[in-house]
Amino acid sequence: MALARLSLATKMTQKTEPNNQTRIAVFISGNGSNLQALIDHQAQNSDCPYDIALVFSNKENAYGLQRAETAGVRTKCLSHREYDSRQAFEEQIVHILHDHQIELVVLAGFMRVLSPFFVSQYAQRIINIHPSLLPKFPGLNAMEQALAARETITGCTVHLVDDGVDTGPILAQKEVSVSSDETIESLQKKIHAAEHQLYPSALAQFCEQGLSAQS
Ligand code: GRF
Repeated sequence: MALARLSLATKMTQKTEPNNQTRIAVFISGNGSNLQALIDHQAQNSDCPYDIALVFSNKENAYGLQRAETAGVRTKCLSHREYDSRQAFEEQIVHILHDHQIELVVLAGFMRVLSPFFVSQYAQRIINIHPSLLPKFPGLNAMEQALAARETITGCTVHLVDDGVDTGPILAQKEVSVSSDETIESLQKKIHAAEHQLYPSALAQFCEQGLSAQS
């Protein structure tokens, strides 16, 4: 793969949609309830500043792929197991993103850590949602961590992705209260509900302001 072609990704800031929408790819690995919230927001808002041009999954059986197909969104699935190295896998993803003229990558339950190579291709153009109030409880099992720490308030965070794990600049957060008899299931339900409100609005705001501010 020609690296010169890859380096174009970070420079691709010009809006390619006729109505000035930012072309986004949503990366998933599973259920895709956040993807659904993003799809619904776009469907319900004629002035939505993003267009879900692609849903990418690393898992063939991810339910989110069905959600995308139902909504008429293009999908692509690649397993890292079919590639010799992480970089070869990620180079193929970057090719796919270029083919679809993707300007912004939106992680929504994507369960693979992206390497510095991939992050450099979309520097400041990768967004993630995490189920805690970062910088508290980064990494896996954030809700279990919050319960174990006996937090009375937790929540979710939308942030830019950098080379660390859940360390990039924070764009938006939403708090959720933790009751004394909270279970992991009940907390998960509350945090998901908060995420479904936060992610579409934070993404829309980023597309309206952040993308041009950082171009
Ligand atoms: C969400 O809780 C998100 O914060 C985390 O992964 C979960 C994905 O859930 N990164 P879903 O697939 O969107 O339902």
